Amino acid sequence: MVGTQPIIILRDNVERTRGQEAQRSNIMAAKAIASAVRTTLGPRGMDKMLVAPSGDIVITNDGATILHEIKVTHPGAKMIVEVAETQDDEVGDGTTTACILVGALMEEAERMLDQDIHPTVIANGYRLGMRKALEILDSQAIIAKDGNRDLLVKVAQTAVTGKSIEGVRDKIADIVVDAVTTIAEKKADGTYIVDEDDIIIKTMIGDHIDDAELVPGFIIDKTRVEEAMPKKVKEARIALLAHPLEITKTQVKSKIKITSSDQMKAFSEQEQKTLHALADAVAAAGANAVFCQKGIADPVQFYLTKLGIFAIQDVPEADMKALAKAVGGTIVNKVEDLSDDVIGSASAIEEMKDIKITKVSGCENPKTVSILLKGGSQVIVDELERAVYDAKRVVQDALEDGKFIVGGAAIDTELLLKIREYAASVGGRTQLAIEAFANIFEAIPRTLAENSGLDPIDIMVDLKAAHSEGKKYAGLDVFTGKIVDMYEAGVIEPVRVKRQAVQSASEAACMLIRVDDMMITQSHRPGQ
Ligand SMILES: Nc1ncnc2c1ncn2[C@@H]1O[C@H](COP(=O)(O)OP(=O)(O)OP(=O)(O)O)[C@@H](O)[C@H]1O
Ligand SMILES: [Mg+2]
Repeated sequence: MVGTQPIIILRDNVERTRGQEAQRSNIMAAKAIASAVRTTLGPRGMDKMLVAPSGDIVITNDGATILHEIKVTHPGAKMIVEVAETQDDEVGDGTTTACILVGALMEEAERMLDQDIHPTVIANGYRLGMRKALEILDSQAIIAKDGNRDLLVKVAQTAVTGKSIEGVRDKIADIVVDAVTTIAEKKADGTYIVDEDDIIIKTMIGDHIDDAELVPGFIIDKTRVEEAMPKKVKEARIALLAHPLEITKTQVKSKIKITSSDQMKAFSEQEQKTLHALADAVAAAGANAVFCQKGIADPVQFYLTKLGIFAIQDVPEADMKALAKAVGGTIVNKVEDLSDDVIGSASAIEEMKDIKITKVSGCENPKTVSILLKGGSQVIVDELERAVYDAKRVVQDALEDGKFIVGGAAIDTELLLKIREYAASVGGRTQLAIEAFANIFEAIPRTLAENSGLDPIDIMVDLKAAHSEGKKYAGLDVFTGKIVDMYEAGVIEPVRVKRQAVQSASEAACMLIRVDDMMITQSHRPGQ
């Protein structure tokens, strides 16, 4: 017989929240996260100024960055931050949207829990709603698989609209589209694949943000080894070396015993000759520039200078690889391996004034490109870099999939109405949960309206009316407050961003709703 002794299954340092309290706690957390970022949504969203304990300042409206910086401790909130991080990793944009959607899903869940609808019914309805949403997104997509430049530019413009660097929006959009299309590889079936590491973003402080440029080649944070070397090389023929340009141990095979000054002289002459030969070999291979991953001995630098060869030493391995891809050369181990086949080319190598960087530009058919961003301060340059990163990712998403949707609340209103229609066909309690799922898409137009100082209720009424009349691209012009055709307004996004946001928001919400017991061990307790 079991005694009256209680059975202890948890260590006494475990904090436990159960039942409704656990659910409410996660709902609160999700709502809090959503309300923290919602004011940044859309072109008229505001920025957040985040100040780290060290005093470092970040000004941004990028959802992922904000959540990363504020370091939440609530376990439910952390899951939502993870949604934003996944969104950022997978598609590079739509992080604020994803958080708003989870917040809305949890808010709807709260309403249903109050009506005694069971969490598994809610989760089931949400799953059906999500499936329908993905289906609608696919069926509504505008398909252009041929790398339609016009649409890609619009995608890039939409991604950077409303960022604080909007003044250079069109220029940045053009640069990003050129960058992505330059390095994109066309597969046999006609679709594209993009390796985002092939676009290198370099930043520098100074000059105006308007001076951003695309370098069809590579930018390296290094300068020539010798002042006397040419500062600019035209029609560059580039040797890429992985080994040092100096006498290595293998070249001095046996121990040399020097007993007289003549021998000393002979040895040093021999050494000089070897070093001279290294420089000569570079020249003989037809190179007028050399990038060396290791050091270049002083005498070799001297001889290279005399030969009019430009040289950079201690180039990091990753830069060497990217450079090789940009100039179409091959990295070799020894100067003896240098030949016409391994030498890369660029129309110019140029060391920049004032700043310590070198531009290798005008590469034919480069497999990597660099984007050089400039700005008056670190804070500006950082936000510019985030905007370019977002734009680069969305253009990549759009080019790879060739599927676009119309943003600015147009697609959201379509989702809202179409999922509601679908819910009606399901019936029962699940219908309520699917309807609730549909409602979350109101959160986007509402938030866009609120952030623009417009009345969300009026806007919703107008949007629904327009869509009911079949105007599926009708959306909110946040600048005028009018309902306009968003396709014509050029607010275009890749389908992948919305798909990912809907999917990860729904999955996170379903998981959180089903939690009815939170056990937090001491070591994970918030704030510790
Ligand atoms: N010109 C525009 N007019 C109306 N709505 C727009 C316009 N440009 C973008 N939007 C809308 O703004 C929303 C995107 O806003 P925002 O870029 O601030 O957030 P996000 O993409 O969800 O997150 P983040 O960019 O922070 O990762 C989308 O719903 C998009 O359709
Ligand atoms: Mg965005």
